[in-house]
Amino acid sequence: MTTPNPPAGISSTASSPGTSIKRIGVLTGGGDCPGLNAVIRAVTKDAISHGVSVIGIEDGFAGLLERRTRPLSTDDVSGILTTGGTILGSSNKADPAAHVIGRDAEGKPIHENRIADCVAYVKELGIAALVVIGGDGTMTVASQFVEAGVPCVGVPKTIDNDLYGTDLTFGFQTAVGIATEAIDRVHTTAASHHRVMVVEVMGRNAGWLALHAGVASGSDVILIPEMPFTVDKVCDAITRRLAAGRKYSVICCSEGAAPLGGEQIVDRVDDTSPDPIRLGGVGKWVADRVQDKLGIDSRHVVLGHVQRGGTPAATDRVLATLFGDHAIEMLKAGITNRLVVMQQGRVTDAPLSEAAGKQRLVPADHPLVAAARSVNTSFGVL
Ligand code: F6P
Repeated sequence: MTTPNPPAGISSTASSPGTSIKRIGVLTGGGDCPGLNAVIRAVTKDAISHGVSVIGIEDGFAGLLERRTRPLSTDDVSGILTTGGTILGSSNKADPAAHVIGRDAEGKPIHENRIADCVAYVKELGIAALVVIGGDGTMTVASQFVEAGVPCVGVPKTIDNDLYGTDLTFGFQTAVGIATEAIDRVHTTAASHHRVMVVEVMGRNAGWLALHAGVASGSDVILIPEMPFTVDKVCDAITRRLAAGRKYSVICCSEGAAPLGGEQIVDRVDDTSPDPIRLGGVGKWVADRVQDKLGIDSRHVVLGHVQRGGTPAATDRVLATLFGDHAIEMLKAGITNRLVVMQQGRVTDAPLSEAAGKQRLVPADHPLVAAARSVNTSFGVL
């Protein structure tokens, strides 16, 4: 999908037929992840090279609610390819459709729909289209902006890799690398002390991060939300290893994993966030149960936000640059209201509305699940 470059500005049929986009806005929404800056850089450099000015919106949709924006120049994005986080800031709370304006007598948040104010601000700034970098929550809000008349192009990020419509999000491969390295380190101390070590990784309701880091680190047991486990089956795997002379075991446990018939463990509820549930605690729960049942010394480690920080892996820098470039290619072709995606190894795009509010989960028959089983990895299932 390439078109000849217009001399200045990006021709747009989706926003205003026959006119040219002179200015775009860019924002990063939801939880941060490595590679956000690489996308901001690609989008900004590419747009400016086509005569399009770029407005950076601070802290995701909060910047539109609170009128916090700044122009981005090529200099502003120089040297950020390798840096973690986002130079624009992000928020996983700001939702203009349900903006929290206070609390009622029972302490529950009172919401107000502020989309119209934000749209008015976007028009005031002369922004013809928004490049919205985020996960499913961010794409849900972006869809509402589209309905309100603001053309958007989505770019998929998240360490969870759970965005519907794309096989890969940037940030995921870096997080897998960080988690794998951490589990490798835990491995040697587990072996020294003949312990069971449970490493809890992020991922929300999707087990991609645990599955990939678990396989890459040779974890003995992998627990993911899509496959409810039993403590008995987890202990069976450890017992089999003990019988074979392996005096330690490593369990890679997704924060969203839950026992069969049981519930996910919630660490906190943030009712000011569109996605209020914060998972956490299952790693300790599993370690305690294993110690109680088998009498083997067990410990847990929660990797937490370490998985989201720091410099992006080379693969994520490449993916982020490809995604940013595709977003601008779409705008050049007058295509908006779509999400940049990776499908079967190719960067392409899909309707933005399809990704909104949906999660891509690990199917039970995924080849990596089969491959893990073939090297005797247990999923703690019946
Ligand atoms: O979606 C990314 C993610 O890191 C999840 O894996 C995790 O459950 C959640 O965000 C944590 O959110 P917060 O940064 O609000 O604690």
